[in-house]
Amino acid sequence: MSTLDWRAGAGQALHGEIAIPGDKSVSHRAIMFASLADGESLVDGFLEGEDTRATAAIFAKLGVRIDASGAGSRVVQGVGIDGLHGCGETLDCGNAGTGMRLLAGLLAGQRFDSVLSGDASLSIRPMARVIEPITRMGGLIESKAGGLPPLRIHGGRALHGIDYTLPVASAQVKSALLLAGLYARGETHIHEPHPTRDYSERMLQAFGWPIAFGPGWVRLSGGHRLRATQVQVPADFSSAAFFIVAASLVPGSDLLLRAVGMNPRRTGLLTVLRAMGADITQTPCGEQGGEPVADLRVRHARLRGIAVPEQCVPDMIDEFPVLFAAAALAEGSTVVTGAAELRVKESDRIATMATGLRALGARIDETPDGAVIHGGTLHGGDTHAHGDHRIAMALVVAAQCASGEVGIADCANVATSFPGFDELARGVGFGIRG
Ligand code: S3P
Repeated sequence: MSTLDWRAGAGQALHGEIAIPGDKSVSHRAIMFASLADGESLVDGFLEGEDTRATAAIFAKLGVRIDASGAGSRVVQGVGIDGLHGCGETLDCGNAGTGMRLLAGLLAGQRFDSVLSGDASLSIRPMARVIEPITRMGGLIESKAGGLPPLRIHGGRALHGIDYTLPVASAQVKSALLLAGLYARGETHIHEPHPTRDYSERMLQAFGWPIAFGPGWVRLSGGHRLRATQVQVPADFSSAAFFIVAASLVPGSDLLLRAVGMNPRRTGLLTVLRAMGADITQTPCGEQGGEPVADLRVRHARLRGIAVPEQCVPDMIDEFPVLFAAAALAEGSTVVTGAAELRVKESDRIATMATGLRALGARIDETPDGAVIHGGTLHGGDTHAHGDHRIAMALVVAAQCASGEVGIADCANVATSFPGFDELARGVGFGIRG
C-alpha cells in the first residue's frame, strides 16, 4: 500500500451543497445478494471504495460476471444460490471486516474450499466471533491462533440452523450467520443484545427470500432462492458524519448534505450531537433502496460535553472517532462508556484517537470501554492515522479548529470507504493538503 500523509488546518467556514458517496455496508451486501440471485441485478450508487471493490473482485473470481456500467453502477449477472465456483486462489478482502465476516458465513455453505485473507489491519481483527457460531451450524473454518485471519473455509459441509444469541451487538456477525443460514437445513434464529443495522434483512427481503425480523431478532430458513432486483444504494451516513461534525464546529458554517441514508440503526450520532447543542435540520426526501433518506442542513453551534447514552453506542459505532474530535472541542467533558468494540475496529479507535488528540493538546482519560474527553482548545502537531480511514478523517475535522497546522500520517486507507474525501472537503472550505 502506498503511504499518504496529509497536512490540515483551519480553512474557511463550511458552505455549499454536497452529495456523499454510497453506503459501504449496503454496497458490500448488494454485490453479495445480486451475485447469488437468479438473473441480472442493477446496483446504482455503489461505493467505488477499495473495500467494496475488493468484495466485487472476489465474486468475479468465484464466477460472477459484474460489469461497471459507469462510476457507481454495476450490472451483476447472478449465478443463483448454488452457482458459485471455487477458484483455487486466496480471496483478498483488503481492509474490510464486513467483507471477510460476511463471506465467512456465505462460503461455509459452498461445496468448495476457500481461503480469505486481508491487509495488515484486517489480519489482526477477531474472527472467532463468526467461526464459533458457524462451527455450531456444522461449518468448518480454520484460522491462525486466536481466531485471526487468514481463514481456511471448508466446503461440502451440511449446515443446520441454530438459535443463537450474539454475545456482542454486531451486524457483521449477524449477517454472516444469515448468509450461512441460506444454506442450512431448518431455521436460523438470531437474537441481538441491542438491535444493529438491518441491511442484510431488508435486502434479503427485497431479493425475495422469506425472512421475519424486528428490532433485535431475525429468523430465516434455508432452501429458497433469490430473485434479481434493482438496488439503489443511499449515501453513507458514516461518511456524512465528518461533514456534519465539521460544520457544527467551524464558526459561520452552513452546509447542506443531500439525500443521506437515515437508517435509524446508523444515525445515533445525530441524537448525541443534538444533545450536545448541534443545529441540524433534517428534511426527509423519500426512500432509496428501501432506506429513508433526508437532506441535512448543518449550521455552526457551540457544543457542550455530555455522557453518551450507552444505548446509542451500536447506532453510532463507526462515528466515535469524529465524536471524539467534537468532544475535544466542546465545552465541558464528554463521557463514553460501553464502547469496548472500538478497540477491535480497523485500529484500536479509543487509543488511536486519544493519542492523536493529545498530540494536539487535548486532555483525554482512556478507560477499557470508552474515554472521558475534556473539551478545550487544540493546537497544531503531528499525528498518525495508523492506516485507519476514519481516524484520518476525524483528525482532519479536529484540525479545522486547531490553532496551528496538523500533520496526519498514513491516510491512504481513506480510499477504502471515502475516495475523494479530501477534494470534497476542500471544495466546501476545509483546510487540507496532501
Ligand atoms: C458493519 C457493521 C459494523 C460497522 C462496520 C460495518 C456492517 O461492524 O462497524 O463498519 O456492514 O455490517 P460490527 O457489526 O462488527 O459492529
